[in-house]
Amino acid sequence: MADAALPRPAPIEAGGTLKGSSRVQPASLPAVELLERAARAVELPHAPNTIVIADYGASAGHNSLLPIRTAISVIRSRAESGRAICVFHADVAENNYAALYEALDSDPQSYLHDDPATFASSSGRSVYQQVVPTNIVTLGWSSWAVHWLSRVPATIHDHVHIACSSDAEAKAAFARQAADDWISFLSARSRELVPGGRLVVLTMGADDSEPGYQPLLDALRDELAAMIGEGVVTRDEVTRMAIPSVGRTEAQLTAPFAPTNRFAGLLVEDMEMFDAEDQYWTRFERDGDAAVFAKNWTAFARASVFPTLIAFLDEDAERRQRFVERLETGLRDRLTADPKRVRIPLAKVLLDKRSWPR
Ligand SMILES: C[S@@+](CC[C@H](N)C(=O)[O-])C[C@H]1O[C@@H](n2cnc3c(N)ncnc32)[C@H](O)[C@@H]1O
Repeated sequence: MADAALPRPAPIEAGGTLKGSSRVQPASLPAVELLERAARAVELPHAPNTIVIADYGASAGHNSLLPIRTAISVIRSRAESGRAICVFHADVAENNYAALYEALDSDPQSYLHDDPATFASSSGRSVYQQVVPTNIVTLGWSSWAVHWLSRVPATIHDHVHIACSSDAEAKAAFARQAADDWISFLSARSRELVPGGRLVVLTMGADDSEPGYQPLLDALRDELAAMIGEGVVTRDEVTRMAIPSVGRTEAQLTAPFAPTNRFAGLLVEDMEMFDAEDQYWTRFERDGDAAVFAKNWTAFARASVFPTLIAFLDEDAERRQRFVERLETGLRDRLTADPKRVRIPLAKVLLDKRSWPR
């Protein structure tokens, strides 16, 4: 199949587990601390210029409220009380912006409630290009977004996820796409940031040991194979299904900056690879309730990857609905029967835009 015909990643399902929590995922907290540190250190534009914060890959905003609120409170303590602070939330054009504005308006955590000089806006464009004008962003934030590739670069013949595949050709194509997308992301952010600006990125990490989310991804693969046998989905459709996300190693994340820690005017000020806790597993160890463990991980998969998988089916809405329901039930049953701890490797990165010539 030609690359051009492969679907792009779909936005996260509105109404999924990412909606309604209005609490940042605990795994993101170390990166929020980094954002707070960046907000203290960043050079603020001179008054009366507006201070711009950008949120790259905002989804419906629920997980952005706390980090952005934290950043604003630090910046407000350093700037005049009436100085305008404008936040741009960027995501793909198909994102649920109505839900984003609803959260900004009515969520108790919204940063708009207690600071009348704070404004929110959005940009419906891929973060692999410029999403706001040049030279306006003081502080950037991107969490759980840049591991989504701009496109599926190849068919993966033996799995739904490249990290669990042995397909060398597909692995090389995904690695090339991941490198290109990271460079595009950094180049665009470099243009948007003001000299002295900072950017914090939280994304999926990788190393030589077990890939992230392996038990969940293997269960997905096995369930899809079972669904072929039942005629719910064809072998051809399942072969084409690929989740276009990648974890990056420390070497892959720092490659554009080698050898002098400079890339497009940016430098890496801080970087840490770490594993987040599988909270569903911790709870399972406490209460032994495999059904709840399975329900939680299945809800996560449904919200985050099912929308991408159904893009590989024809557009028959009823068929897509049947597929989602069948996959959800099957995945839950599998995880209930064989619960395993899910590894969640992450990387948090603080980038600095210095004012040296490019
Ligand atoms: C898992 S959500 C992250 C939401 C939130 N930032 C958080 O920390 O939970 C990933 C978001 O990245 C967005 N995304 C993926 N690829 C993107 C791209 N190329 N441009 C803009 N947004 C993208 C998805 O649409 C989705 O809303």
